[in-house]
Amino acid sequence: MKNKVQQIFKDIDSFTITSTDSLEEFRLKYLSKKGIIPELFKGFKTVSPDQRKDIGRLLNDLKNKAQEKFNQARESMEFRKEKHEEYMDNTRPAEEFQLGSRHPVSIVMNKICDIFARIGFTISEGPEIEDDWHNFTALNFPPDHPARDMQDTFFIEKDPEIALRTHTSSVQVRIMEKNKPPIRTISPGRVFRNEAISARSHCIFHQIEGLYIDKDVSSADLKQSLFYFAKELLGEDTGIRFRPSYFPFTEPSAEMDVSCNICEGKGCNVCKYTGWLEILGCGMVDPNVLNNCGIDSNIYSGFAFGMGIERTAMMIYQIRDIRLFFENDLRFLKQFESII
Ligand code: PHE
Repeated sequence: MKNKVQQIFKDIDSFTITSTDSLEEFRLKYLSKKGIIPELFKGFKTVSPDQRKDIGRLLNDLKNKAQEKFNQARESMEFRKEKHEEYMDNTRPAEEFQLGSRHPVSIVMNKICDIFARIGFTISEGPEIEDDWHNFTALNFPPDHPARDMQDTFFIEKDPEIALRTHTSSVQVRIMEKNKPPIRTISPGRVFRNEAISARSHCIFHQIEGLYIDKDVSSADLKQSLFYFAKELLGEDTGIRFRPSYFPFTEPSAEMDVSCNICEGKGCNVCKYTGWLEILGCGMVDPNVLNNCGIDSNIYSGFAFGMGIERTAMMIYQIRDIRLFFENDLRFLKQFESII
């Protein structure tokens, strides 16, 4: 019996009481009428007279120990409860709830997607990690084109065939490979270039590129679609002009400028006193690109264009530093109301 009682001492020590449930469990197990300790007292009658004194003392110690543990745990629980009630103020106003706002890049991106959706363009997306074919070769980039240089593009070290896409034209290749004309789609998304970060350029930015392929698509369609876009985005009075340019995947190619909406074309420091702001690159899709993607260039023609969203947002909101878009400073982000 002595060993048994000593084991119960140990059990009581290791019993942890953390809740009212475990407190009750403890009481039922050791102290209640049918609990272990009263049962031991009942068995006391059978203890031989020479052991009675020892065992009797042991049993009393056990009972006191269990009772004390129980009392202490109950008191500390009551104390905690009182304290909680004392400090709880049900009349206190709730924490202020801060409503988020859309990121300016998303606002401008959504707005541009919306404008092109109204003239029948679908939205297509593709992978950010691309292979050489979709990012360069299918788009008529010669093998020694500077964009293929390690200095301009982030290649995957183990496999120079794979790179982070430098433009979303790669999505257009994927669309042309899988679909038959007519194709009318825009591809918004994140792109990557190995460039030093400054107020005007960043190694990560967003683009929207557009593609229209059908029979008899001409540069008149290109001009009219982009004129509509410029007016919808920047206002009815916006003017556009095209300057000849070069891209491997379009022929002929152009840069499109929009009239400066700050000085209304008169000249200011935003437009560097030219009255015009560069907004996008465009051109008629090179027949080589159509053929590379399985579209017969004798039957079909098309136009393509592409623009940087950050640059466009900087123009619309008069933001001077591209890095602000990536810093997540709420003082900056809170200033843009969603316009959609
Ligand atoms: N892909 C070009 C760029 O990233 C933009 C562009 C798209 C130009 C389509 C012409 C036609 O700069």
